[in-house]
Amino acid sequence: MDDIDRIAEAGVDVGDDRQGRLLGDRWTANAALKPMVRFRTFNLLEDPSALGSFDVVLCRNVLIYFDQATKTKILDRIAARLPGDGTLYLGGSETVFGITERFEPVPGERGIYQLTRVPAPARAAA
Ligand SMILES: C[S@@+](CC[C@H](N)C(=O)[O-])C[C@H]1O[C@@H](n2cnc3c(N)ncnc32)[C@H](O)[C@@H]1O
Repeated sequence: MDDIDRIAEAGVDVGDDRQGRLLGDRWTANAALKPMVRFRTFNLLEDPSALGSFDVVLCRNVLIYFDQATKTKILDRIAARLPGDGTLYLGGSETVFGITERFEPVPGERGIYQLTRVPAPARAAA
């Protein structure tokens, strides 16, 4: 029995949604989601292409360890692993500005970024 099970047994279930339940101050995945969850360590200095793609990447308060060129490389690699509607979360005091042009802020959301929307080229006059 892990901590989450103990908390659940104690009846501290304070909420739920489609993917999991908030038990005390921790979330637990629901039964449908659990088989899809894998935990593994990964060094951001390595090429993530073998990991596949991600709809959401949480990379909060990690870039602080790296120099500018390395931050650019890491963010560009993450961008390459996201679909067009993918989302990147950085720490509230972190930014992509001056580091990469692959991401732009999600309007009105601090620390949340989407792939930079490239405006459609102007249609050639007929
Ligand atoms: C300040 S903690 C932030 C933890 C968490 N993301 C948060 O916001 O609470 C920085 C994390 O970056 C991780 N980290 C440092 N260098 C890394 C690397 N090269 N690859 C992957 N993670 C790294 C550390 O292991 C540590 O967990």
